[in-house]
Amino acid sequence: MRASTFFATLAATAATASPLAARAADYQWDVTQWDAGCNNDGCTYQFKIAGAATSDYPARPAFSASCTGQSTDGQVYTQYANCKLDSKDTKGTLVSRINKPAELLGSRTVVPLQVSFQFADLNQDNTYWNYTGVQNTTFNRGGTPPQSFAIIPKESFGIA
Ligand SMILES: *[C@@H]1O[C@H](CO)[C@@H](O)[C@H](O)[C@H]1NC(C)=O
Ligand SMILES: *[C@@H]1O[C@H](CO)[C@@H](O)[C@H](O)[C@H]1NC(C)=O
Repeated sequence: MRASTFFATLAATAATASPLAARAADYQWDVTQWDAGCNNDGCTYQFKIAGAATSDYPARPAFSASCTGQSTDGQVYTQYANCKLDSKDTKGTLVSRINKPAELLGSRTVVPLQVSFQFADLNQDNTYWNYTGVQNTTFNRGGTPPQSFAIIPKESFGIA
C-alpha cells in the first residue's frame, strides 16, 4: 500500500514512471551502539547503522549513519526521523522510527525498530530504490550495555 502511494506521488511528476521489482536476498544492515530509554516526557533512542555495498541487481551503495529519534506525549512509538549519513558521497536518505506496539516482556520493553533506506540507482538516471526493514529490540538504557543486532530489509521497491 505504502509503495503504491509513493509511486503515485512520483508518477505525478514523471509521466514514464513504472514500478520495478527489487530483491532483498542476502542484504543486511548492522546496528551497533543501540541505546534507548524513557522518562516521563517520552522515549529517546540512538544507534549507528551500516550497510555494505552489493553488486547484484540493483547495486546498492555502502553507507554508515547515526540515527536518533524521540517520542512525544509519553508514548513509545515515534515518527520517521532522518538519520545522519556519514559518507558524503552517499546520495541517499535513511530514516528510522519506532513502530507500535511496544510490549512488556518481564521488565523489558520490546519495540519494533523500523529503518528505511532510499538511494538513486548507481547506473541509471531517474531510478530510485527503497528498502525497509523491521527488527524487534529492547529499551535498554540503565540496564544492559548498548546492543548490536542486524536488520534484514524485507520490503523493497524501485521507481523508474
Ligand atoms: C521508502 O518508502 C516508504 C513508503 O513510501 C516511505 O515511507 C519511506 O520514507 C521511504 N524511505 C526513505 C528513506 O525515503
Ligand atoms: C516482534 O515481536 C512481535 C511480538 O512478539 C511479533 O509479533 C513480531 O512478529 C516481531 N517482529 C519481528 C520483525 O520480528
